[in-house]
Amino acid sequence: MVRILGISGSPRHGSTEYAVKEALRAAEETGGVETEYLSLRRRTIGFCLHCDHCLRSKGVCVHKDDMQDILPRLAAADGFIFGSPVYEGTMSGQLKTMFDRMRPWYFLDPPPLPNKVGGALAVGGDRHGGQVSTILSILAFMLIFEFIVVGGKHPGGNFGGTVWSKDIVPEGTSQDEEGLRTVRGLGRRVAEVTKMVVAARR
Ligand SMILES: Cc1cc2nc3c(=O)[nH]c(=O)nc-3n(C[C@H](O)[C@H](O)[C@H](O)COP(=O)(O)O)c2cc1C
Repeated sequence: MVRILGISGSPRHGSTEYAVKEALRAAEETGGVETEYLSLRRRTIGFCLHCDHCLRSKGVCVHKDDMQDILPRLAAADGFIFGSPVYEGTMSGQLKTMFDRMRPWYFLDPPPLPNKVGGALAVGGDRHGGQVSTILSILAFMLIFEFIVVGGKHPGGNFGGTVWSKDIVPEGTSQDEEGLRTVRGLGRRVAEVTKMVVAARR
């Protein structure tokens, strides 16, 4: 079995949660995959202060908040599906803050993230509201942390999952058949590559 963790960067139960769970379901259906869902809703995650304490202490952060619960769950996963609502054409502050707080992991030996597999989905209220730019901002994080980055499935999977919620929760997302097709393709693609990477590692 490989482990795939789906994370919603939305502050509410809503369309991103719906889409991430749909991607996880598609990943599970490929077989040999166990999944976990994690929401950043109501999580207390302080901003990175760039105090460099993590650098000096080899990976210990000054903040004592919900990242202490989240980090072990990230470390245990082989593959990731990161989902975000589109906020002004990019990822939510919640997701960005979580990513910034993963900086201490640069300084661990060995660092836990290289060669994890990851893909992204974005849910916007507008049809063309910045889903792709949001996905690219998430892929940039993964590239910097040495993930193996994947997109979606052909045809039309492109960068990952691109969903139009019409700002109606959650019916808008459940009615966006084309968007959900890209989400399921993303789930299958993350599962496919995660299994290859884990098999190679073993
Ligand atoms: C602060 C804020 C900024 C937003 N910016 C955009 C945007 O740039 N483009 C867009 O399509 N939708 C935008 N939206 C709408 C959300 O992306 C949309 O309602 C989405 O479905 C919310 O996901 P959720 O239900 O998982 O929270 C914005 C919403 C908020 C609250």
